[in-house]
Amino acid sequence: MDGTTYLADYTPYPFNIDKVSLRFRLAPHATRVQAHIAMTPLSPGAALRLDGEQLRLISAAIDGVALTPSDYLITPSGMTVHPAALPEAPFTLETEVEIAPEGNTALEGLYMSNGMYCTQCEAEGFRKITYYPDRPDVMAPFRVRIEGDLPVLLSNGNPVASGPGWAEWDDPWPKPTYLFALVAGDLVAHSGSFTTASGREVALNIYVRPGDEDHCAFALGALQRSMKWDEEAYGREYDLDIFNIVAVDDFNMGAMENKGLNIFNSKLVLASPETATDTDYERIEAVIAHEYFHNWTGNRITCRDWFQLCLKEGLTVFRDQSFTADMRLGPVKRIEDVIALRARQFREDQGPLAHPPRPDHYREINNFYTATVYEKGAEVVGMLRTLVGDEGYRKALDLYFERHDGQACTIEDWIKVFEDSSGRDLGQFKRWYTDAGTPRLRVTDDYADDTYTLTFEQQTPPTPGQPHKTPRHMPIAVGLLSPNGNEVVPTTVLEMTEARQSFTFTGLSTRPVPSILRNFSAPAVLERATSAAEQAFLLAHDTDPFNRWEAARSLARQTLMDMTKGAPPAAEYLDAIGRLLADDTADPAFRALILRLPGEDEIAQALHASGTTPDPEAIHTARGALMTTLAQRHEVALSATYESMAVPGAYTPDAAPAGCRSLRLAALALLSQIDGARRAEALFASADNMTESLGALSNLITAGKAEGALAQFRSRWKDVRLVMDKWFLVQASLCPPQTAAERVTTLATDPAFEWKNPNRFRSLLGGFSANHAGFHRADGAGYRFYADWLIRLDPLNPQTAARMSTAFETWPRYDKTRQALVRTELERIAATDGLSRDLSEMTARLLG
Ligand code: PHE
Ligand code: ZN
Repeated sequence: MDGTTYLADYTPYPFNIDKVSLRFRLAPHATRVQAHIAMTPLSPGAALRLDGEQLRLISAAIDGVALTPSDYLITPSGMTVHPAALPEAPFTLETEVEIAPEGNTALEGLYMSNGMYCTQCEAEGFRKITYYPDRPDVMAPFRVRIEGDLPVLLSNGNPVASGPGWAEWDDPWPKPTYLFALVAGDLVAHSGSFTTASGREVALNIYVRPGDEDHCAFALGALQRSMKWDEEAYGREYDLDIFNIVAVDDFNMGAMENKGLNIFNSKLVLASPETATDTDYERIEAVIAHEYFHNWTGNRITCRDWFQLCLKEGLTVFRDQSFTADMRLGPVKRIEDVIALRARQFREDQGPLAHPPRPDHYREINNFYTATVYEKGAEVVGMLRTLVGDEGYRKALDLYFERHDGQACTIEDWIKVFEDSSGRDLGQFKRWYTDAGTPRLRVTDDYADDTYTLTFEQQTPPTPGQPHKTPRHMPIAVGLLSPNGNEVVPTTVLEMTEARQSFTFTGLSTRPVPSILRNFSAPAVLERATSAAEQAFLLAHDTDPFNRWEAARSLARQTLMDMTKGAPPAAEYLDAIGRLLADDTADPAFRALILRLPGEDEIAQALHASGTTPDPEAIHTARGALMTTLAQRHEVALSATYESMAVPGAYTPDAAPAGCRSLRLAALALLSQIDGARRAEALFASADNMTESLGALSNLITAGKAEGALAQFRSRWKDVRLVMDKWFLVQASLCPPQTAAERVTTLATDPAFEWKNPNRFRSLLGGFSANHAGFHRADGAGYRFYADWLIRLDPLNPQTAARMSTAFETWPRYDKTRQALVRTELERIAATDGLSRDLSEMTARLLG
């Protein structure tokens, strides 16, 4: 297709960049950027091709001699200097361009947010700053001079000099452009320090707008914990004298790992007990860690090209997940990660947007910052660790850092490191990177003569462009329990490589109960005909916490699926929940996870996978009915749990009290079905922290009793952006689905709906698409509303519009009427004049 980039077309850049010096003279409408680029030709006769978009060229010279217009060609995507105008020896290219950060609503390149200048260069934003080879395999040391009438002027690396209205920064570590950053503004710092294992003192600063500095302490502590953990778990030290983080309100993503100058969406930095929930705190800690960990996995070792994105993202997600598991409750973190993986990545794999962790073509790389690249990429790293063991993993990573420091690498380099350090052949394992789709794992078993046999069959459904799949190399962790509940075979990793394969266990005097895919050892869908009684047995006895939870989850999922077809709730499930509520030995956070039912989208996904067309209203009704039944059946125990899980004393975001609040709110959600939301009302009135306040408000909305509370919440928080985002989000996601489209239409006219701010836009639109039955309302009003807003946002911020279009990715699951309604909206978007490359690629893929 025209404008498509292919992995197979990779060629190295024919010049080496020896050094870059940049000078910025900041002005909102006319910022001047001067670049001095020292380079060495590597391939005589090659033209000098530089990327550049929306730049006004002021001048260009080579070795001090101005270029004449016949020496180069300028197009909307860049500049090419003819070979005849280039010296054969090393030379310096000097350019000056003018750009307009004030008008930059796409939030890519240099832009302004509340009077502050900031940049976002990943993946291809640097080309909107100056002419340069904007590709990750071109690495160079940068020196930056910033001139501007603002108190704080920041860039990458170490500060070298400054005076009134100017500052200079030098980054000694060669880096690709996507890690470049510049910030200028009226900012204040919350500061601290960290001493590395080898005794280097590092200054730490979190820069925020004046007034926010007392909301930074948690983020700073998270940074210090991350720095320490990376030294202990991976032997990785920080490598500059200073590490800066800046919080900005207008940001397309979560955060960005620019060398020495991370830029964060303010929602992932700022926190106080009154304004942030337990979930916010946990996320802040995880993302601070994620961006910090990129310093080694991403920055010191980067990606050769954007097809290798999961090399840095999958590994860094895996590292941040391990960090959180160590900081908090490991098994609970694993379950949360698998819930998110299924909700986002399995969903992606099931629809028209399915792609491998390493795709082989794209039109717009921004469209590939996906759950598959990130979360499935992390699962693949986890499987590698399972295959080679903890020690083997550490050995492989040591070799990776030693062999590839300072390089731009590929997935092949990464796999080779594991092969060389373990002596294993991982050729078949590599399919996890190159193939899309979630394998289905069918399991049957057999018992005779003291021998137990497990037979697995794997099959991956076709995905776009990949109709036929070959078997994957899959680690399947298995344990066996005896009927009295004792473990007779502890966790053993079976390695499956064939389409169909059997494994035997001998010396068993009774038929065991298998616990399969412990700790979710491979991202597959397990298909096994089991009884509800067996699931209840595993929930009670399994030694693997993940599979205990999984037993409850599949019981709940099956119960809900049956209920959508008119069956009553399964007695085994109701009883099992009762036993769990009485089990004080189980951790509260773990019990909370079991008490929370699968979401409506997960039920729809499961119905579709089992060959049934999901009916959104029926799913919504069934889920509500099951909650009511659970509440009626276990009212006394739930009420006691609700009371006993109240945390005394001042709020802290630690895992233990957060677990109690989580269980308390899970109990409240059930009780609110039958108590007229009386407890939720009382909690809303008394809560002194955002976790409980928002939890109570959510239940009031579900119960249709929130009008007063919403007004009160709004008047208290109208000046706090991050909290007002929540005000929009809970209404859009939880309001009754029958009238949700009307509700969000009204909310979109609210003066506080500042739709150009990505967080606010995501709160309302993302919240609404999470309102499953509301978004999928049979008359198509939800789809229409959503499409209208994507069309409106696209010309301003194509990246966010394109990302939000994934709400439509599940359309093939639903009935013909809904399919036709979605198709109409997607075609209407696709036909819009001047549609961005981002959104047009997405609509084309969504339409299939
Ligand atoms: N690289 C960032 C991260 O995952 C994500 C990001 C991508 C941010 C593109 C902005 C733009 O850590
Ligand atoms: Zn990342």
